[in-house]
Amino acid sequence: MVQSDSFPVLPVEISKYWVEDRLLLVAPKVPAWLVVDVDTFNLLDQLRASQRGCGAEIPADRQALRRLRDLVFRHNFIERAEPAEKYIRVQAHLTNRCNLRCPHCYVSSGLAEPNELDKDAWFDVCRFFRGLDAPIHFSVSGGEPTLVKWLPDLMRYAKMDCGFQTAVLTNGLLLSDEKIKQLAGVVDSFAVSLDGASAETHDAMRGRGTFAKTVNALHALLRTDARVGLNICVRRSNAQDLMTNLGALLSTFDRTVDVDLASVIPEGRALEFSGETLPPDEVQANISTISKQLLRDGWAPTRASLRENCGFGTSFVIYANGDVSPCITRRFRRGNIRRDGVEGVFADLTRLSEKMKVQNLPECKSCGLNTLCGGKCHLPQVRAGAADFQNECSEGFKEQFRRGLTRRFDIVERQFHA
Ligand SMILES: C[S@@+](CC[C@H](N)C(=O)[O-])C[C@H]1O[C@@H](n2cnc3c(N)ncnc32)[C@H](O)[C@@H]1O
Ligand code: SF4
Ligand code: SF4
Repeated sequence: MVQSDSFPVLPVEISKYWVEDRLLLVAPKVPAWLVVDVDTFNLLDQLRASQRGCGAEIPADRQALRRLRDLVFRHNFIERAEPAEKYIRVQAHLTNRCNLRCPHCYVSSGLAEPNELDKDAWFDVCRFFRGLDAPIHFSVSGGEPTLVKWLPDLMRYAKMDCGFQTAVLTNGLLLSDEKIKQLAGVVDSFAVSLDGASAETHDAMRGRGTFAKTVNALHALLRTDARVGLNICVRRSNAQDLMTNLGALLSTFDRTVDVDLASVIPEGRALEFSGETLPPDEVQANISTISKQLLRDGWAPTRASLRENCGFGTSFVIYANGDVSPCITRRFRRGNIRRDGVEGVFADLTRLSEKMKVQNLPECKSCGLNTLCGGKCHLPQVRAGAADFQNECSEGFKEQFRRGLTRRFDIVERQFHA
Protein backbone atom coordinates (compact mmCIF):
# COMPACT_ATOMS: atom_id res chain seq x y z
CA MET A 1 0.00 0.00 0.00
CA VAL A 2 1.21 3.51 -0.79
CA GLN A 3 0.02 6.57 1.07
CA SER A 4 -1.61 9.11 -1.22
CA ASP A 5 -0.21 11.99 0.84
CA SER A 6 3.21 11.37 -0.72
CA PHE A 7 1.68 12.72 -3.91
CA PRO A 8 1.41 16.36 -4.98
CA VAL A 9 -2.14 17.71 -4.69
CA LEU A 10 -3.93 16.96 -7.96
CA PRO A 11 -6.22 19.54 -9.58
CA VAL A 12 -9.75 19.52 -8.21
CA GLU A 13 -11.34 20.70 -11.43
CA ILE A 14 -10.66 18.58 -14.50
CA SER A 15 -12.28 18.41 -17.95
CA LYS A 16 -12.00 15.08 -19.73
CA TYR A 17 -12.00 14.44 -23.50
CA TRP A 18 -11.34 11.44 -25.69
CA VAL A 19 -8.64 12.02 -28.29
CA GLU A 20 -8.62 8.82 -30.30
CA ASP A 21 -8.07 6.06 -27.72
CA ARG A 22 -6.59 8.24 -24.97
CA LEU A 23 -7.97 10.73 -22.49
CA LEU A 24 -7.00 14.37 -22.56
CA LEU A 25 -7.34 15.80 -19.04
CA VAL A 26 -7.43 19.57 -18.80
CA ALA A 27 -7.08 21.36 -15.47
CA PRO A 28 -8.34 24.83 -16.42
CA LYS A 29 -7.44 26.61 -13.18
CA VAL A 30 -3.75 25.63 -13.28
CA PRO A 31 -3.72 25.57 -16.37
CA ALA A 32 -2.19 22.24 -17.42
CA TRP A 33 -3.07 19.09 -19.25
CA LEU A 34 -2.19 15.39 -19.44
CA VAL A 35 -2.88 12.72 -22.02
CA VAL A 36 -3.29 9.27 -20.45
CA ASP A 37 -4.65 5.79 -21.06
CA VAL A 38 -7.69 4.52 -19.14
CA ASP A 39 -5.67 2.67 -16.48
CA THR A 40 -3.61 5.76 -15.67
CA PHE A 41 -6.76 7.84 -15.56
CA ASN A 42 -8.37 5.44 -13.07
CA LEU A 43 -5.31 5.58 -10.86
CA LEU A 44 -5.26 9.37 -11.01
CA ASP A 45 -8.95 9.55 -10.23
CA GLN A 46 -8.52 7.29 -7.20
CA LEU A 47 -5.74 9.50 -5.96
CA ARG A 48 -7.84 12.61 -6.37
CA ALA A 49 -10.69 10.97 -4.47
CA SER A 50 -8.30 9.94 -1.73
CA GLN A 51 -6.85 13.46 -1.50
CA ARG A 52 -10.36 14.83 -1.07
CA GLY A 53 -10.89 12.47 1.85
CA CYS A 54 -13.02 9.87 0.06
CA GLY A 55 -10.59 6.96 0.63
CA ALA A 56 -7.42 6.72 2.70
CA GLU A 57 -5.05 4.53 0.74
CA ILE A 58 -4.38 3.75 -2.88
CA PRO A 59 -4.09 0.10 -3.78
CA ALA A 60 -1.52 0.33 -6.52
CA ASP A 61 1.95 -0.84 -7.21
CA ARG A 62 4.68 1.61 -6.35
CA GLN A 63 6.08 1.69 -9.86
CA ALA A 64 2.81 2.81 -11.41
CA LEU A 65 2.48 5.51 -8.78
CA ARG A 66 6.01 6.70 -9.27
CA ARG A 67 5.48 6.90 -13.03
CA LEU A 68 2.31 8.89 -12.51
CA ARG A 69 3.97 11.22 -10.05
CA ASP A 70 6.79 11.94 -12.51
CA LEU A 71 4.28 12.58 -15.27
CA VAL A 72 2.30 14.94 -13.08
CA PHE A 73 5.43 16.94 -12.18
CA ARG A 74 6.68 16.96 -15.77
CA HIS A 75 3.47 18.53 -16.98
CA ASN A 76 2.82 20.70 -13.93
CA PHE A 77 -0.52 18.96 -13.35
CA ILE A 78 -0.70 20.12 -9.74
CA GLU A 79 -3.32 22.18 -7.96
CA ARG A 80 -2.11 25.71 -7.42
CA ALA A 81 -1.77 26.69 -3.80
CA GLU A 82 -2.45 30.29 -4.82
CA PRO A 83 -4.08 31.78 -7.88
CA ALA A 84 -1.66 32.60 -10.68
CA GLU A 85 -0.28 36.09 -10.29
CA LYS A 86 -1.72 38.24 -13.03
CA TYR A 87 0.72 40.77 -14.35
CA ILE A 88 -0.36 43.83 -16.26
CA ARG A 89 2.11 43.88 -19.12
CA VAL A 90 3.21 47.27 -20.37
CA GLN A 91 5.41 47.31 -23.44
CA ALA A 92 6.91 50.73 -24.04
CA HIS A 93 8.20 51.45 -27.54
CA LEU A 94 10.55 54.21 -26.44
CA THR A 95 11.45 55.23 -29.95
CA ASN A 96 10.92 54.13 -33.51
CA ARG A 97 14.56 54.89 -34.25
CA CYS A 98 16.67 51.89 -35.08
CA ASN A 99 20.22 51.13 -36.05
CA LEU A 100 18.91 48.36 -38.34
CA ARG A 101 16.27 48.09 -41.06
CA CYS A 102 15.23 44.42 -40.79
CA PRO A 103 13.07 43.51 -43.79
CA HIS A 104 10.56 41.63 -41.61
CA CYS A 105 10.13 44.40 -39.01
CA TYR A 106 6.44 44.62 -38.12
CA VAL A 107 6.96 48.08 -36.60
CA SER A 108 8.79 49.34 -39.74
CA SER A 109 11.42 50.85 -37.50
CA GLY A 110 14.19 53.10 -38.73
CA LEU A 111 13.49 56.80 -38.28
CA ALA A 112 11.95 58.50 -35.26
CA GLU A 113 8.17 58.96 -35.41
CA PRO A 114 6.95 62.53 -35.35
CA ASN A 115 6.05 63.61 -31.84
CA GLU A 116 7.72 60.84 -29.81
CA LEU A 117 7.09 60.86 -26.04
CA ASP A 118 9.97 62.24 -24.01
CA LYS A 119 11.60 61.00 -20.82
CA ASP A 120 9.15 62.86 -18.53
CA ALA A 121 6.15 61.36 -20.32
CA TRP A 122 7.50 57.83 -19.81
CA PHE A 123 8.13 58.54 -16.15
CA ASP A 124 4.47 59.66 -15.92
CA VAL A 125 3.38 56.37 -17.52
CA CYS A 126 5.36 54.44 -14.89
CA ARG A 127 3.91 56.59 -12.12
CA PHE A 128 0.37 55.79 -13.29
CA PHE A 129 0.96 52.02 -13.33
CA ARG A 130 2.72 52.14 -9.98
CA GLY A 131 -0.49 53.60 -8.51
CA LEU A 132 -2.59 50.61 -9.65
CA ASP A 133 -1.57 48.30 -6.84
CA ALA A 134 -1.10 45.39 -9.27
CA PRO A 135 2.02 43.48 -10.34
CA ILE A 136 3.41 45.17 -13.44
CA HIS A 137 5.72 43.74 -16.07
CA PHE A 138 7.37 46.71 -17.79
CA SER A 139 9.31 45.99 -20.96
CA VAL A 140 10.93 48.41 -23.38
CA SER A 141 11.10 47.84 -27.09
CA GLY A 142 10.90 49.96 -30.24
CA GLY A 143 12.75 50.61 -32.53
CA GLU A 144 15.93 49.94 -30.67
CA PRO A 145 15.52 50.98 -27.02
CA THR A 146 19.26 51.01 -26.31
CA LEU A 147 19.55 54.05 -28.61
CA VAL A 148 17.68 56.06 -25.97
CA LYS A 149 20.14 57.92 -23.70
CA TRP A 150 17.90 57.97 -20.64
CA LEU A 151 17.11 54.22 -20.82
CA PRO A 152 19.11 53.36 -17.63
CA ASP A 153 17.32 56.17 -15.70
CA LEU A 154 13.91 54.94 -16.79
CA MET A 155 14.68 51.31 -15.98
CA ARG A 156 16.07 52.28 -12.58
CA TYR A 157 12.90 54.23 -11.80
CA ALA A 158 10.67 51.36 -13.03
CA LYS A 159 12.55 48.78 -11.00
CA MET A 160 13.63 50.62 -7.85
CA ASP A 161 10.88 53.18 -7.32
CA CYS A 162 7.91 51.39 -8.89
CA GLY A 163 8.83 47.78 -8.11
CA PHE A 164 8.06 46.53 -11.63
CA GLN A 165 9.44 43.41 -13.26
CA THR A 166 11.59 44.95 -15.98
CA ALA A 167 12.71 43.71 -19.40
CA VAL A 168 14.58 45.07 -22.41
CA LEU A 169 13.95 43.78 -25.94
CA THR A 170 17.00 44.51 -28.05
CA ASN A 171 19.00 43.54 -31.08
CA GLY A 172 22.00 43.59 -28.71
CA LEU A 173 24.32 45.47 -31.05
CA LEU A 174 24.75 48.55 -28.86
CA LEU A 175 25.20 46.71 -25.58
CA SER A 176 28.71 47.83 -24.68
CA ASP A 177 30.18 46.70 -21.35
CA GLU A 178 29.45 50.19 -20.04
CA LYS A 179 25.77 50.02 -21.09
CA ILE A 180 25.38 46.55 -19.59
CA LYS A 181 26.86 47.84 -16.34
CA GLN A 182 24.32 50.66 -16.25
CA LEU A 183 21.41 48.29 -16.85
CA ALA A 184 22.47 45.30 -14.76
CA GLY A 185 20.62 45.28 -11.46
CA VAL A 186 17.66 47.28 -12.78
CA VAL A 187 16.69 44.99 -15.67
CA ASP A 188 15.31 41.58 -14.70
CA SER A 189 15.49 40.12 -18.17
CA PHE A 190 16.94 40.83 -21.57
CA ALA A 191 15.27 39.41 -24.68
CA VAL A 192 17.75 39.48 -27.53
CA SER A 193 16.66 38.94 -31.12
CA LEU A 194 18.20 36.25 -33.24
CA ASP A 195 17.07 35.58 -36.78
CA GLY A 196 19.13 32.47 -37.26
CA ALA A 197 21.46 30.19 -35.34
CA SER A 198 24.35 30.82 -37.72
CA ALA A 199 26.03 33.97 -39.04
CA GLU A 200 24.92 33.23 -42.58
CA THR A 201 21.20 33.12 -41.82
CA HIS A 202 21.11 35.83 -39.14
CA ASP A 203 23.27 38.27 -41.10
CA ALA A 204 21.11 37.84 -44.20
CA MET A 205 18.30 39.48 -42.19
CA ARG A 206 20.16 41.87 -39.90
CA GLY A 207 23.32 42.79 -41.78
CA ARG A 208 26.89 41.59 -42.09
CA GLY A 209 28.72 40.98 -38.81
CA THR A 210 25.59 41.30 -36.65
CA PHE A 211 25.50 37.65 -35.58
CA ALA A 212 28.98 37.74 -34.04
CA LYS A 213 28.23 41.02 -32.23
CA THR A 214 24.90 39.79 -30.92
CA VAL A 215 26.35 36.51 -29.67
CA ASN A 216 29.12 38.48 -27.90
CA ALA A 217 26.48 40.63 -26.24
CA LEU A 218 24.65 37.47 -25.14
CA HIS A 219 27.80 36.14 -23.48
CA ALA A 220 28.29 39.47 -21.72
CA LEU A 221 24.66 39.54 -20.53
CA LEU A 222 25.01 35.99 -19.22
CA ARG A 223 27.73 37.25 -16.87
CA THR A 224 25.15 39.45 -15.12
CA ASP A 225 22.38 38.18 -12.82
CA ALA A 226 19.60 38.99 -15.30
CA ARG A 227 17.55 36.37 -17.12
CA VAL A 228 18.54 36.22 -20.73
CA GLY A 229 16.35 35.04 -23.57
CA LEU A 230 16.34 34.76 -27.33
CA ASN A 231 13.47 36.13 -29.40
CA ILE A 232 13.35 34.17 -32.60
CA CYS A 233 10.92 34.75 -35.42
CA VAL A 234 10.56 31.47 -37.34
CA ARG A 235 10.38 31.97 -41.12
CA ARG A 236 10.77 29.98 -44.27
CA SER A 237 14.42 30.96 -44.69
CA ASN A 238 15.62 30.28 -41.14
CA ALA A 239 13.59 27.22 -40.09
CA GLN A 240 16.13 24.68 -41.35
CA ASP A 241 19.08 26.56 -39.87
CA LEU A 242 17.35 26.74 -36.48
CA MET A 243 16.56 23.04 -36.54
CA THR A 244 20.16 22.23 -37.38
CA ASN A 245 22.14 24.74 -35.34
CA LEU A 246 20.16 26.22 -32.46
CA GLY A 247 20.87 23.39 -30.02
CA ALA A 248 24.62 23.72 -30.66
CA LEU A 249 24.51 27.49 -30.22
CA LEU A 250 22.67 27.15 -26.90
CA SER A 251 25.26 24.70 -25.66
CA THR A 252 27.97 27.40 -26.00
CA PHE A 253 26.27 29.51 -23.31
CA ASP A 254 27.35 29.22 -19.69
CA ARG A 255 23.85 29.13 -18.31
CA THR A 256 20.25 28.64 -19.35
CA VAL A 257 18.85 30.93 -22.00
CA ASP A 258 15.08 31.20 -22.51
CA VAL A 259 13.93 30.60 -26.06
CA ASP A 260 10.86 32.28 -27.47
CA LEU A 261 9.90 30.99 -30.90
CA ALA A 262 7.32 33.18 -32.67
CA SER A 263 5.71 33.25 -36.09
CA VAL A 264 5.80 36.26 -38.43
CA ILE A 265 3.42 39.09 -37.52
CA PRO A 266 2.14 40.17 -40.94
CA GLU A 267 2.43 43.92 -40.45
CA GLY A 268 4.70 46.81 -41.37
CA ARG A 269 7.63 45.81 -43.56
CA ALA A 270 6.70 42.14 -43.09
CA LEU A 271 3.79 42.77 -45.46
CA GLU A 272 6.29 43.08 -48.31
CA PHE A 273 8.01 39.99 -47.13
CA SER A 274 5.19 37.58 -47.75
CA GLY A 275 7.37 34.84 -49.27
CA GLU A 276 8.90 34.38 -45.84
CA THR A 277 5.63 33.96 -43.98
CA LEU A 278 4.89 30.29 -43.51
CA PRO A 279 1.30 29.02 -43.54
CA PRO A 280 0.10 28.38 -39.93
CA ASP A 281 0.42 24.59 -40.25
CA GLU A 282 3.99 24.84 -41.46
CA VAL A 283 4.91 27.30 -38.69
CA GLN A 284 3.46 24.90 -36.15
CA ALA A 285 5.30 21.98 -37.69
CA ASN A 286 8.59 23.89 -37.73
CA ILE A 287 8.18 25.19 -34.21
CA SER A 288 7.36 21.67 -33.03
CA THR A 289 10.44 20.27 -34.73
CA ILE A 290 12.70 22.99 -33.36
CA SER A 291 11.21 22.51 -29.89
CA LYS A 292 11.82 18.77 -30.16
CA GLN A 293 15.42 19.42 -31.11
CA LEU A 294 15.82 21.80 -28.17
CA LEU A 295 14.21 19.37 -25.77
CA ARG A 296 16.71 16.78 -26.86
CA ASP A 297 19.38 19.30 -25.87
CA GLY A 298 17.95 19.76 -22.43
CA TRP A 299 15.75 22.80 -22.95
CA ALA A 300 12.50 22.74 -20.95
CA PRO A 301 9.15 23.81 -22.41
CA THR A 302 7.70 26.95 -20.89
CA ARG A 303 4.66 26.58 -18.67
CA ALA A 304 1.28 27.33 -20.17
CA SER A 305 -0.10 30.62 -18.96
CA LEU A 306 -3.65 31.21 -17.92
CA ARG A 307 -5.58 33.05 -20.64
CA GLU A 308 -8.63 34.92 -19.51
CA ASN A 309 -9.23 36.30 -22.98
CA CYS A 310 -7.51 36.48 -26.36
CA GLY A 311 -4.85 38.68 -24.78
CA PHE A 312 -6.75 41.96 -25.15
CA GLY A 313 -5.94 44.25 -22.27
CA THR A 314 -3.38 41.97 -20.66
CA SER A 315 -0.66 43.84 -22.56
CA PHE A 316 -0.58 47.54 -23.19
CA VAL A 317 1.71 48.36 -26.04
CA ILE A 318 2.50 52.06 -25.95
CA TYR A 319 4.08 53.33 -29.13
CA ALA A 320 6.67 56.07 -29.29
CA ASN A 321 4.06 58.70 -30.27
CA GLY A 322 1.78 57.73 -27.36
CA ASP A 323 -0.65 55.53 -29.31
CA VAL A 324 -1.78 52.54 -27.26
CA SER A 325 -2.71 49.07 -28.42
CA PRO A 326 -4.06 46.39 -26.07
CA CYS A 327 -2.47 43.69 -28.21
CA ILE A 328 0.77 43.04 -30.07
CA THR A 329 -0.80 44.14 -33.35
CA ARG A 330 -0.67 47.83 -34.15
CA ARG A 331 -3.96 47.55 -36.05
CA PHE A 332 -5.68 47.50 -32.66
CA ARG A 333 -4.51 51.02 -31.77
CA ARG A 334 -7.05 52.62 -29.50
CA GLY A 335 -6.42 55.89 -27.73
CA ASN A 336 -3.36 58.05 -27.31
CA ILE A 337 -1.68 58.98 -24.07
CA ARG A 338 -1.14 62.61 -25.01
CA ARG A 339 -4.70 63.07 -26.18
CA ASP A 340 -6.66 60.90 -23.72
CA GLY A 341 -4.25 60.61 -20.78
CA VAL A 342 -2.93 57.26 -19.64
CA GLU A 343 -5.85 56.95 -17.16
CA GLY A 344 -8.44 57.47 -19.91
CA VAL A 345 -6.90 54.91 -22.28
CA PHE A 346 -6.41 52.39 -19.49
CA ALA A 347 -10.02 52.72 -18.26
CA ASP A 348 -11.41 52.22 -21.79
CA LEU A 349 -9.24 49.16 -22.50
CA THR A 350 -9.91 47.59 -19.12
CA ARG A 351 -13.67 47.95 -19.61
CA LEU A 352 -13.47 46.21 -22.99
CA SER A 353 -11.09 43.50 -21.84
CA GLU A 354 -13.43 42.65 -18.95
CA LYS A 355 -16.28 42.08 -21.40
CA MET A 356 -14.09 39.70 -23.40
CA LYS A 357 -13.06 37.47 -20.55
CA VAL A 358 -13.99 33.86 -21.20
CA GLN A 359 -15.95 33.75 -17.96
CA ASN A 360 -18.15 36.57 -19.29
CA LEU A 361 -18.87 35.01 -22.71
CA PRO A 362 -21.93 32.74 -22.89
CA GLU A 363 -20.36 29.83 -24.79
CA CYS A 364 -16.75 30.09 -23.60
CA LYS A 365 -17.88 30.32 -19.97
CA SER A 366 -18.77 26.65 -19.79
CA CYS A 367 -16.02 25.40 -22.10
CA GLY A 368 -13.40 23.24 -20.38
CA LEU A 369 -10.68 24.56 -22.70
CA ASN A 370 -11.33 28.22 -21.99
CA THR A 371 -8.26 29.18 -19.95
CA LEU A 372 -5.95 27.67 -22.53
CA CYS A 373 -7.84 28.97 -25.58
CA GLY A 374 -8.79 32.46 -24.38
CA GLY A 375 -11.80 32.66 -26.69
CA LYS A 376 -10.10 33.58 -30.02
CA CYS A 377 -9.11 37.01 -31.36
CA HIS A 378 -11.59 39.84 -30.82
CA LEU A 379 -10.12 42.34 -33.26
CA PRO A 380 -13.05 42.11 -35.75
CA GLN A 381 -15.64 42.82 -33.04
CA VAL A 382 -13.71 45.75 -31.57
CA ARG A 383 -13.32 47.27 -35.02
CA ALA A 384 -17.01 46.83 -35.77
CA GLY A 385 -17.91 48.42 -32.42
CA ALA A 386 -19.87 45.26 -31.50
CA ALA A 387 -21.45 44.92 -28.08
CA ASP A 388 -21.31 41.12 -28.14
CA PHE A 389 -17.86 39.55 -27.93
CA GLN A 390 -18.72 35.86 -28.09
CA ASN A 391 -16.82 34.45 -31.07
CA GLU A 392 -18.34 31.76 -33.19
CA CYS A 393 -16.94 28.42 -32.19
CA SER A 394 -17.49 24.95 -33.60
CA GLU A 395 -16.92 21.34 -32.64
CA GLY A 396 -14.29 21.29 -35.41
CA PHE A 397 -12.31 24.11 -33.75
CA LYS A 398 -12.48 22.47 -30.33
CA GLU A 399 -11.39 19.16 -31.80
CA GLN A 400 -8.42 20.84 -33.51
CA PHE A 401 -7.51 22.61 -30.27
CA ARG A 402 -7.60 19.36 -28.31
CA ARG A 403 -5.43 17.64 -30.91
CA GLY A 404 -2.95 20.53 -30.64
CA LEU A 405 -2.69 20.02 -26.87
CA THR A 406 -2.22 16.29 -27.39
CA ARG A 407 0.55 16.90 -29.94
CA ARG A 408 2.37 19.25 -27.54
CA PHE A 409 2.08 16.70 -24.76
CA ASP A 410 3.47 13.95 -26.99
CA ILE A 411 6.48 16.05 -28.00
CA VAL A 412 7.49 16.50 -24.38
CA GLU A 413 6.99 12.81 -23.63
CA ARG A 414 8.86 11.57 -26.69
CA GLN A 415 11.82 13.76 -25.87
CA PHE A 416 11.78 12.79 -22.23
CA HIS A 417 11.90 9.10 -23.10
CA ALA A 418 14.33 9.48 -26.04
C1 LIG B 1 10.38 45.13 -33.16
S1 LIG B 1 11.74 44.49 -32.32
C2 LIG B 1 12.23 45.83 -31.26
C3 LIG B 1 13.37 45.51 -30.37
C4 LIG B 1 14.74 45.37 -31.04
N1 LIG B 1 14.98 46.32 -32.03
C5 LIG B 1 14.93 43.97 -31.57
O1 LIG B 1 15.06 43.78 -32.77
O2 LIG B 1 14.96 43.06 -30.74
C6 LIG B 1 11.02 43.37 -31.13
C7 LIG B 1 10.97 41.92 -31.60
O3 LIG B 1 10.02 41.80 -32.65
C8 LIG B 1 10.53 40.87 -33.58
N2 LIG B 1 9.88 41.09 -34.87
C9 LIG B 1 10.08 42.10 -35.73
N3 LIG B 1 9.27 41.97 -36.78
C10 LIG B 1 8.54 40.85 -36.59
C11 LIG B 1 7.53 40.19 -37.33
N4 LIG B 1 7.11 40.65 -38.48
N5 LIG B 1 7.00 39.09 -36.80
C12 LIG B 1 7.42 38.59 -35.61
N6 LIG B 1 8.37 39.17 -34.87
C13 LIG B 1 8.92 40.29 -35.35
C14 LIG B 1 12.01 41.16 -33.62
O4 LIG B 1 12.74 40.11 -34.20
C15 LIG B 1 12.26 41.37 -32.14
O5 LIG B 1 12.53 40.13 -31.53
S1 SF4 C 1 13.28 44.15 -35.70
FE1 SF4 C 1 14.27 45.44 -34.15
S2 SF4 C 1 16.33 45.73 -35.00
FE2 SF4 C 1 15.10 45.07 -36.68
S3 SF4 C 1 14.39 46.97 -37.68
FE3 SF4 C 1 12.79 46.28 -36.25
S4 SF4 C 1 13.21 47.38 -34.42
FE4 SF4 C 1 15.09 47.47 -35.64
S1 SF4 D 1 -13.55 29.87 -28.51
FE1 SF4 D 1 -14.41 27.80 -28.43
S2 SF4 D 1 -12.74 26.51 -27.67
FE2 SF4 D 1 -12.18 28.62 -27.20
S3 SF4 D 1 -12.94 28.96 -25.10
FE3 SF4 D 1 -14.56 29.65 -26.49
S4 SF4 D 1 -15.89 27.88 -26.74
FE4 SF4 D 1 -13.94 27.12 -25.89
